[in-house]
Amino acid sequence: MRPAVRTSDAYVPALWRVAAREQETADTVTFALTPPPDAPPLPFRPGQFNMLYAFGVGEVPISISGDPARTDRGMVHTLRAVGSVTRPLARLSEGQTVGLRGPFGSHWPLEAAAGGDLVLVAGGLGLAPLRPAIWAALAARERFRNLVIVYGTRNPANLIFRRDLREWRSRLDTECEVTVDHAAPDWHGHVGTILQRLQHAEFEPAATTAFVCGPEIMMRHTAHALIDRGVPAARLYLSMERNMKCALGRCGHCQFGPHFVCKDGPVFAYDRIRPLLGVAEV
Ligand SMILES: Cc1cc2nc3c(=O)[nH]c(=O)nc-3n(C[C@H](O)[C@H](O)[C@H](O)COP(=O)(O)OP(=O)(O)OC[C@H]3O[C@@H](n4cnc5c(N)ncnc54)[C@H](O)[C@@H]3O)c2cc1C
Ligand code: FES
Repeated sequence: MRPAVRTSDAYVPALWRVAAREQETADTVTFALTPPPDAPPLPFRPGQFNMLYAFGVGEVPISISGDPARTDRGMVHTLRAVGSVTRPLARLSEGQTVGLRGPFGSHWPLEAAAGGDLVLVAGGLGLAPLRPAIWAALAARERFRNLVIVYGTRNPANLIFRRDLREWRSRLDTECEVTVDHAAPDWHGHVGTILQRLQHAEFEPAATTAFVCGPEIMMRHTAHALIDRGVPAARLYLSMERNMKCALGRCGHCQFGPHFVCKDGPVFAYDRIRPLLGVAEV
């Protein structure tokens, strides 16, 4: 899919305004951004990302975490403050501006999952790029058989999108399992790994398409568990993260073996990248 870039020069960010800000966890914030005046809505596909620019500091790739059916409301991003660019971005408040280029990259192939079961597995902040796919799947719920969401974080304080999780868990047509690695006694949910929850989830492996996003080691283990259970490797998709510069397939910063994550990814079919997973410095 060709990127839909707002500015005439694909390297120049457009000025978007912070319309709303929600603190998800101690270090993670969700922003709703509105486009420059008179600019049309910017469509995107679930799994794509934008380059967000903190003025005078730098630019980073951040997945789109909003509803693909509601781009009239602008763009939604969820970011964790980890370093020199994400920290100033996370401090932005309502009314302030941020540079935005995009959307870029490949998307979760929801159309490939139609008619079968759909399993979405997220670790930590990996729920952000999967949330648009969950919303799109729920909006077309009749196109899928079993819909399973499995989400895990280190501890309850790291859970993001709590309102959505409550809503998804309350639905009778969706299985939404949430688990944490460690918790205080006042936590009444599951304690354990994502793989343990996945073992109990109901889906027919041979007819399942799975989308997985999280730390690479979590994605590797999850992919192995799904394949061991019988999910075809060709129906398994992972979202990869690499440092980026141009996001246009020109600079080579995001190289991942023979692929560029910015244009061939970030969403890859597992059987395309299997030999590269787990190889250090690829
Ligand atoms: C396609 C794509 C989509 C992404 N989507 C999101 C998103 O939706 N939300 C989000 O918060 N981030 C996302 N990221 C990661 C984000 O781009 C990085 O966290 C960011 O580039 C870090 O830049 P920085 O300058 O703030 O940190 P740096 O100054 O570069 O790094 C500071 C420290 O943070 C560590 N660090 C860097 N990146 C990460 C990371 N991803 N996780 C944990 N520690 C890290 C570094 O190892 C270093 O120790 C995405 C990355 C890609 C490639
Ligand atoms: S970031 Fe430049 S080629 Fe991907």
